[in-house]
Amino acid sequence: MEISAIKINYQIEPIGIEKIENISWELVSSDRNVFQKAYELQISENEDFSEILFDSKKVLSEESAHIKIDESILKLKSCQKYFIRVRTESSDGKKSDWKNSSFVTALVSLDELMANFISIESENDNNDSKGSHLRKEIVMNKEIKSAYALSSALGIYYLFINGKKVGIDELTPGWTSYNKHLLYQIYDVKDYLQTGKNVIGGMVGAGWYKGKMGFLGFKNHYGKRTAFICQLAVEYTDGTKEIFVTDNTWTGAFGPIIFSEIYDGEIYDANLEIKNWCETSCEYNSWNKTELVDFDKSVLKAQSGSKIRKITEIKPKKIFKTPEGDTVIDFGQNMTGWIEFNARGKKGDCVEFSCFEILDANGNVYLDNLRSAKQKIKYIFNDSGEDVIYHPYFTFQGFQYAKIISYPEEPKKEMFTAFAVHSDMEVTGEFECSNPDINQLQHNILWGMKGNFLDVPTDCPQRDERLGWTGDAQIFCRTAAFNMDIYTFFSKWLRDLKEDQTAEGGVPHVVPDILIGKSEKDRLMQDGEHSAAAWADAAVICPWTLYLVYGDKDIIYKQYDSMKAWIDFMQKHSNNNIWNYKLQFGDWVALDAEEGSYFGATPNDLTCTAFYAYSTGLFAKMAEIIGNLEDAKKYKKLYTEIVETYQKTFFKEDGHLNVQTQTAQILTLYFDLVKAENRAKVAEDLIKLLEKENNHLVTGFVGTPYFCHALSQNGYIKEAYDLLLKDDFPSWLYQIRQGATTVWEHWDGLRPDGTMWSPDMNSFNHYAYGAVGDWMYRVIAGIDCSEKEVGYKHSIISPRLGGGFDFVKSSFKSVYGRIVSEWKVGGNKAEILIEIPCNTKSTIRIPDAKKIIDADGLKFEEENGVLSAETGSGIYKIKFEM
Ligand code: BGC
Repeated sequence: MEISAIKINYQIEPIGIEKIENISWELVSSDRNVFQKAYELQISENEDFSEILFDSKKVLSEESAHIKIDESILKLKSCQKYFIRVRTESSDGKKSDWKNSSFVTALVSLDELMANFISIESENDNNDSKGSHLRKEIVMNKEIKSAYALSSALGIYYLFINGKKVGIDELTPGWTSYNKHLLYQIYDVKDYLQTGKNVIGGMVGAGWYKGKMGFLGFKNHYGKRTAFICQLAVEYTDGTKEIFVTDNTWTGAFGPIIFSEIYDGEIYDANLEIKNWCETSCEYNSWNKTELVDFDKSVLKAQSGSKIRKITEIKPKKIFKTPEGDTVIDFGQNMTGWIEFNARGKKGDCVEFSCFEILDANGNVYLDNLRSAKQKIKYIFNDSGEDVIYHPYFTFQGFQYAKIISYPEEPKKEMFTAFAVHSDMEVTGEFECSNPDINQLQHNILWGMKGNFLDVPTDCPQRDERLGWTGDAQIFCRTAAFNMDIYTFFSKWLRDLKEDQTAEGGVPHVVPDILIGKSEKDRLMQDGEHSAAAWADAAVICPWTLYLVYGDKDIIYKQYDSMKAWIDFMQKHSNNNIWNYKLQFGDWVALDAEEGSYFGATPNDLTCTAFYAYSTGLFAKMAEIIGNLEDAKKYKKLYTEIVETYQKTFFKEDGHLNVQTQTAQILTLYFDLVKAENRAKVAEDLIKLLEKENNHLVTGFVGTPYFCHALSQNGYIKEAYDLLLKDDFPSWLYQIRQGATTVWEHWDGLRPDGTMWSPDMNSFNHYAYGAVGDWMYRVIAGIDCSEKEVGYKHSIISPRLGGGFDFVKSSFKSVYGRIVSEWKVGGNKAEILIEIPCNTKSTIRIPDAKKIIDADGLKFEEENGVLSAETGSGIYKIKFEM
């Protein structure tokens, strides 16, 4: 048994943790049924562990995840590197070697923060979106042993030392509810510094902080001027320490970025560059004084992971001329990020292009669905005559194409590279099968995620929106958790959700919230700026999902008050257990809506009350999990009452729902709001409603995610596969037939006759309908977890063979290690390959097996008509007859 990786707070060798919240390790072994019996964990400041600060000694425990260290035993110092090592003993007495790792602390207390926010902007610059340079020359006369820089900004910033950008993060500090929660980053900067003179600097732009955000076009959501903060902690080899901080002895100037906005793009005038601005050789002598900016520093928090980075590089597929004569670059993939170009121009020349998602029916540039977002990049050359490599600093674009407006020479493919820029999360899921369309769908789901996980889970990355719509995030959360490790990403966002809840517990439509109090101009929102069913329920469903997938109760503790406030809000505003409130999105953009309407046909009373019941039920379970039995009892009772009311209100005496829409049947089945004796009737009604649409879905954001589950859980696995495999309009594969490389916002974004849904809301990179990915992993591959032993400590492997697939290959990397489920079919025989990680158990169920031919050592027994076996870790190849 070996330890393959140690994670601290869900990260490998993290830099900048405030405290140890969670330690986990993965065990690997070629033996079967390997369990950990004991572990030993040590922490030291020295790599050779010559002096040990913390020694767990031998702990008899099976737990290899969610290990905590009592803070009173190990007091961590700020900006300090620590080494950690773990070894384990298995149930059969085998010992692993020590596995070593490390972490670096952030500030363990904000009392140690001496730096202040500084700016060269004044409040009168509130409408400007210029970039500024802030700098200071500092001297270090001794040999440097270690150096860590802490930095952040009101705006977007990059830290520079001696002419070099520090680290690989982009668009820092990301987007949070800044005035309540602002993240800072920590960098190991020893290699950027030298004994003697150094220059440290910050480049700052408007970003989400003061730039235009939201479809109503407001600026300055958080403040009127950008600012930068930095604290550099240096330790010299002689043991002495020194701290350098931003204060008003720093100087600054506006630089070459004369305009940069999230939606509209960036203008860079190289004629305004300050040569060597962050180097000791800089000769510029018009630096301005900086001013201190008042900001409540107690809201600062070290960023815990999922930092935005350049993740994937894509070269253009082609450059072509449209029928209207525009020169267009096609990258062959819809994405979010930047186009980097390499060009040489003379003074007065410029590179200018605008980014967009799709061509119209005639093959011409289509910008209308960007609404007011310009997504335009302009670079103005100076007289240096040098080759320039450039991508924007303070903005990002959603695009597959770029229309070249100006270029100093004939643009060629090799001059351009696109970078997909998003939060850096470990890829944890794989799904592949013998059907290429489904593989393309998996690709599109993944790229929808890459495109919309840019620090905040956004609806879309291209138009003047790009907001953290709570509903979209809730819908996609479980699928996302298969594809990538989303723990730090979502727990950070949930903190903002909590911060932005109304005093009464209402949940904003978007988090970070920039709508409440500002949307009176909006024709939909006016009075209903928060608390919509399925959207606001992100407050409960997302923490529940994180708990299920990662097995970590911390998220329940952290979000408990927020969840409870949300349930109480619904209760307060419900009428005899029927909940409905102001503006509801209902089954958003369902096809059973009236022509031109966004609102599907399922009535709000039903969708709202269904979610009220579902969230209350989940909350009651979570209260029990953390031992709050009083709440558990109270909310279980409330849950039972809501379900009874639901049944009384929406069921007819004959056991059928009085609302005959696909979504009504789906919610009723999936949320288990039906009496057992009526379940089959509701399921049959769902089949009838499907048949009525010639076996197509007409569901929107609310019904679609659970459609296939509602079918497969109720005896209609074939119908679920058929639905997934439909490829005419409307369907998932219809989009693929139309050449989609990401998931669309609307089933009819691009209609069979070539027309498009209205440009007022037509994104081609919206992850919500990609939520079917959850069904692909949980049902086709059959990788699921038990609610009793969460975090896949006890996995349930129950693949459903079908869809005419010859094979499926899927895996998911849980906190304990990689789970594999693969199957292949030949005639009436099939074979399943399963891998269960060490220190976990699994129940293997094969509903499609009539007779096991080779159990590979497992003992299958019939349980409710399904052949099932229990096992521990190992690789198993099971052959059976279907
Ligand atoms: C967004 C959606 C969002 C919806 C709420 C749209 O503009 O793009 O994805 O959930 O509004 O109604």
